[in-house]
Amino acid sequence: MGLLRYSPRILEPEAMVTPDEVRAYDRLSAQYLDILHKGFVETVLGGCPAGGSVLEIGTGTGRIAALLARHGPGLRITGVDLSPDMLVVARENVESGNVGGGVALVLGDAKRLPFPDGAFDAVVSHNMLHHLPDPLPLVDEAFRVAKPDGAVFIRDLVRPPDSLIPWHAAVFGFGYDPRMKRQYLDSMRAALTWAEWRALFARHRARGAVLSRQFLTHATIARPWRGGDSGIRLPGSTAARWARRLYVGCGRARPAAREPEPSGPLQHDRRTRP
Ligand SMILES: C[S@@+](CC[C@H](N)C(=O)[O-])C[C@H]1O[C@@H](n2cnc3c(N)ncnc32)[C@H](O)[C@@H]1O
Repeated sequence: MGLLRYSPRILEPEAMVTPDEVRAYDRLSAQYLDILHKGFVETVLGGCPAGGSVLEIGTGTGRIAALLARHGPGLRITGVDLSPDMLVVARENVESGNVGGGVALVLGDAKRLPFPDGAFDAVVSHNMLHHLPDPLPLVDEAFRVAKPDGAVFIRDLVRPPDSLIPWHAAVFGFGYDPRMKRQYLDSMRAALTWAEWRALFARHRARGAVLSRQFLTHATIARPWRGGDSGIRLPGSTAARWARRLYVGCGRARPAAREPEPSGPLQHDRRTRP
């Protein structure tokens, strides 16, 4: 079954290390990740209380936190990240977006969040799960610091079979510059396969959560707020709105059947990308 062969994950470094790397990531994410970021923000705004507190885990350079603050003006946002250099740029981004007052930025580790149980109305994370050798502590921590009936949205890439990775990068990374394409390939090789997502979901057994797929590229573990969809949608051209809908499955979590899965640890190469 060569076509459907999956090699073990090749991990990325947990936190981006140099200030240069961080600035490059920020420039590229502003240029290329607009559809993904806005699609995720719509999912979150649609599934959390309008006046609540939101924690974003792995906030990076704060672009999602800034969008949440701009389009959800009643929200109080906290962004946490392991990388001090990321947080420096995140501070600049929230301040240049004039939403600095609504966003607190905190240095911290997703595996041991520096917050008490039930501290937030919503806990969200985007494109950071693949940085962790074992993502279960991230999921456990997200549900721990969310209120018992709070919203949780954890979205990340899905790794395709080896033979499809170059095709995936060519199609979904169409127009990316070579550096961004390389980053995308590295992230895909570090991401969980769909079977690994299902195993993770089964290991966590979060009450009231669903696992869903968005298009071919992403998956989400979600527990939307019980208060229902706020109906907030981001402005933009018709083409941009349709692209978002297509890419992130209309920005909604769609339930997937929960099946018993093997519960062993994730396989990954000991190697980390240099
Ligand atoms: C690919 S970036 C994603 C940033 C942002 N969420 C986005 O979607 O553009 C992943 C971020 O996760 C952070 N990160 C990795 N491991 C972490 C950990 N254990 N705790 C907190 N943040 C972590 C990295 O420093 C980086 O900023």
